[in-house]
Amino acid sequence: MKIEQLYTKCLAEATYYVASEGEVVIIDPLRETAPYIAMANADNARIKYIFLTHFHADFVSGHVDLARETGAIIVYGPTATADFDFHVGKDNEEFKIGTITLKLLHTPGHTLESSSFLLFDEAGKEYCLFSGDALFIGDVGRPDLAASSLVTKEELAGKLYHSLHDTIMKLPDDIIVYPNHGKGSACGKSMSSETFDTLGNQKKVNYALDPSLTKEEFVKQVLDGLTVPPQYFPKNAVMNKGINISINEVLSKGLTAIISNQFQQYLSLKDVLFLDVRSLKEFTKKHITNSIFIGLDGAFAPWVGELIENIKQPIVLIAPEDREEESVTRLSRIGYDNVLGYIKGGVDAWENEGLTISTIPCLEANDIELLDEECSFLDVRRIGEFTDNRVKDANNLSLGNIHANANEHDKNKVQYVYCAGGYRSVIAISILNRLGFNKLININGGFSEIKNNSKIPLKECRRNCPTCACSD
Ligand SMILES: [Fe+2]
Repeated sequence: MKIEQLYTKCLAEATYYVASEGEVVIIDPLRETAPYIAMANADNARIKYIFLTHFHADFVSGHVDLARETGAIIVYGPTATADFDFHVGKDNEEFKIGTITLKLLHTPGHTLESSSFLLFDEAGKEYCLFSGDALFIGDVGRPDLAASSLVTKEELAGKLYHSLHDTIMKLPDDIIVYPNHGKGSACGKSMSSETFDTLGNQKKVNYALDPSLTKEEFVKQVLDGLTVPPQYFPKNAVMNKGINISINEVLSKGLTAIISNQFQQYLSLKDVLFLDVRSLKEFTKKHITNSIFIGLDGAFAPWVGELIENIKQPIVLIAPEDREEESVTRLSRIGYDNVLGYIKGGVDAWENEGLTISTIPCLEANDIELLDEECSFLDVRRIGEFTDNRVKDANNLSLGNIHANANEHDKNKVQYVYCAGGYRSVIAISILNRLGFNKLININGGFSEIKNNSKIPLKECRRNCPTCACSD
């Protein structure tokens, strides 16, 4: 028996590869199919089943492509309906993979069809539970995403309570819990950075598994403090129930090299977005005018999904050489399938054609000595981070709300822009520049540099320095 957790940090998502005696099941695959097929080939095995713990909302799965390419059977839990062929699993139904068995346990709550898969090893002993979004490490899946006119979030939360307390908590303490998500995912509130744990330990540390918790208390707790889900979540959920353009088509179109004599033509296309996914240093130094920055080396997919509202947006990529395929793949994981191609030769080739390029002025926090009355600070972190501590008198424009709230800010004022570490501020400046802001300066390293290595006054002084100008 072989179990591999394939963890994708950008989406905080775990796919599982389980093999036994030449047979494989893939649980909750991402959009691309090639890595799973390569793994099975390396094991000289065939993919027999593709299990989906539920209809995901935070990424687009490649189950239909993977089934088409391998002949594997897609399995969802009870009540699932979709546009493609699949097996509707029953509660307690068993599936054989080589000499091991996986039993479907219907664990509704996060969604109605949500199911977990309990693995029995070669000796017939319960070994681990693929818990999907029913049970995370330190948390549980939010029950509001699948709420509809047919079922309320309170009803779903109640079902989740029963799934956890009547089904999952009755399993042996020594089994390993393998969840679908980890820290950073918007599918829960307070997930641990661990990506697996024993059920016994989760019973001790996970608030949702406290046996003294009543159903009413659980429902209240699990629904309390939920943030508005990112705009792409419902769109991805719809895509997961349908048949989408194949990943091979997405890749073949997205990997079109746009060469220098075509630059003008693509520039004049209506509604095309130039998306620069290089490092923030490269982008601030030189970029195609009006391109927006969302770098691959950050929370790339969630920010694309949050900030590019049209999931069918035609995109031209400016990507690091040799990372074009990665860029197209990572966009397709959240359903952004309309990449028209990438700029061959990048920003240098663009500049060589005499087309316009721009830069973003950047400053080190410790180079900002005195505050000029004409300039101010713009904090683009979330409101919770801003409330906790910030530069004194800074304004807040959270990156997630940038399109809705940008107009409340002065486009012609010099503003030092910062986030926590420098990634979000560059995204924000790239978007604000397109909206006509023309005097924005990025602070390298963001608030952590401001706090630790500068004399810029803060709302709340934690430095105890005698020269600090903090007043509150
Ligand atoms: Fe989910």
